[in-house]
Formats: sequence, C-alpha cells, structure tokens
Amino acid sequence: MAMSMEQKKKSGLPKVIAVTSGKGGAGKTNFVINTGIALSQQGLRTYIIDADLGTANVDVLLKINSKYTIQNLVDKTMDSVMDIVADGPEGLKIIPGGSGLQSLTDLPEDELARVIGLFEPLEEHADVILIDTGAGISRNVVNFLLASDEIIVIITPEPHSMMDAYSMIKVLSEKKVTQPVKLVFNMVDNLEDGKAVAKRMLQVIGRFLEITPQPLWYIVKDDSMSRGLRQFKPLLLYKPSSQAAKCFITVAEKLNPLKNADTRQLMEQEAPKGLASKLKRFFSK
Ligand SMILES: Nc1ncnc2c1ncn2[C@@H]1O[C@H](COP(=O)(O)OP(=O)(O)O)[C@@H](O)[C@H]1O
Ligand SMILES: [Mg+2]
Repeated sequence: MAMSMEQKKKSGLPKVIAVTSGKGGAGKTNFVINTGIALSQQGLRTYIIDADLGTANVDVLLKINSKYTIQNLVDKTMDSVMDIVADGPEGLKIIPGGSGLQSLTDLPEDELARVIGLFEPLEEHADVILIDTGAGISRNVVNFLLASDEIIVIITPEPHSMMDAYSMIKVLSEKKVTQPVKLVFNMVDNLEDGKAVAKRMLQVIGRFLEITPQPLWYIVKDDSMSRGLRQFKPLLLYKPSSQAAKCFITVAEKLNPLKNADTRQLMEQEAPKGLASKLKRFFSK
C-alpha cells in the first residue's frame, strides 16, 4: 500500500479519527485496538495515539513494553514521533501518550508548536490515525476531538453512558464542529438492540441539539473480549469468527478511506426535528 505523497494529499490521508465517550468503561480502548487491527488487516498503515490516561492503556492491554512516550518529545529526550512508536499486533503501531499529554496543554504556545511539529513524519507514514482520548470533557479531550477529521462517540445502553455521551455531543454541538460525528453503540445484544438504543439517542439529540450525528454501527456484547485480554489477545485475534469481531470488521470497512464498499447505515437517519420541537424552540427564545 505504498502511496506517493501526492496521492496521499489527494485522498486526504492520513485520516485522523478521534474516539471518545462521555464516560469511562464504554469500550473506547478495546474499540480502538480491534478497529485498528481490522484496518491494518485491510492494508492500511494504522497508528493509535494512546491519549487515554486511564489505567487500561493500549500498551497495557496488549502487553507492549513501550519504552518511550510523548513525554519524551516534550522533554526533548527524543526528537521525532517515529522514535517513540511501538509495534502492536498485525502491523498496528502504537504511540503511547504517557504523562506527556497532560503537560501539553500547560506548554507555552511555541513549545506546543514544536512538539506538534515533531508529529509531522506521520503525514508520510500513516494512512489512518486513531486517537484513544480520555473520557470526559476536559480541554485536552475536546482539543483532540476538534483537531481530528472525524469524531466517534462510543455509547453503551446504560442510562449513565447515554447521558454522558449526550453531554459530550452537546459540547461538540456548542463548539459547532464541522467534522462528522459518528456514533457507535457498544455492548448491545444484537442489531435490533443497537437500533433501539440509537433511536433513543438520536431522538433526544434531535429534540435539543443542532448537531446531527451519524449512527455508524454497533458492537455486540461478548464476554470473550475480557477472556482474550487475560492472554493479552484483542478479540479480533482471540475470536476472529465471533459476532463482535465481525462488527469491528464492518466498522473498519465503513471507516476505511480507500474502501467505500460498506455504506450500510445502522438505521435510516431520523427526520431532523419535528415541527412541534421546532416551535417549542422558537417560543422558548
Ligand atoms: N463489546 C464488548 N463486550 C463485552 N465487554 C466489553 C465490550 N467492550 C468493552 N468491554 C469491556 O468493558 C471494559 C471497558 O472497556 P475499555 O475498552 O477499557 O473502555 P474505556 O477505554 O472506554 O474505558 C473492559 O473490561 C472491556 O473488556
Ligand atoms: Mg480506555
């Protein structure tokens, strides 16, 4: 999949996809790893930037002993992003955030520009960059989201997860994001359940927010996920024929910038905002 810089520029690669959720535990890290492996298997040079400072980091889950993190770029002990890249399964590349990420927002403008400049080689080396952001609406997370080409919000059927995802989407709406916001419904029972959760979510969003996220796809709940992780095996390698693995592969096909084959929608887009809610908004001004 070698491509000239010219071709890459034309196709808009690398494509930067930030993955977030309102709440921790929604499945971001597992989503990024499994979707990343699927993209890599589809022939794309895929990088994960691990910006989630939670405990179950990408490198912990994959048992990668990464020596370096973005902190090394901040404190000048390394001078290119390519020096801190760790190898994951199936050709997947991992860029560990480490404590460097927290300090990024505290850096003076010119220092921040210097560190960001060190990421430039990725332009040439990567086709897709997935960012595993932390949960919550900190400035760090929101900045990552606003800097990406696409935003994916992971939502589970739990009321708490849905509420927190809503808050996150509200922030994105208020920031008037121009990039596509895509929703993935994780830990659902099946396609029907995924659609039902999507419908509820889109109804609330449609009633109160200006933004129209796209329900991308769903991932079924599968206990093999945590069983595999006990052996440091992501689901896609532990149980490639499982229903959940197939869900990840479909998601990767939908995100794959070189493959527009899978355009199935989780559900038809809800008609944007009924007349009643429009009027309500009108009168509440
Ligand atoms: N589709 C799924 N089916 C079953 N368990 C899941 C699924 N997705 C995530 N999990 C489990 O949920 C927990 C949280 O997942 P994780 O990816 O660490 O979430 P986050 O990064 O959002 O905090 C983990 O124990 C993981 O194994
Ligand atoms: Mg995580």
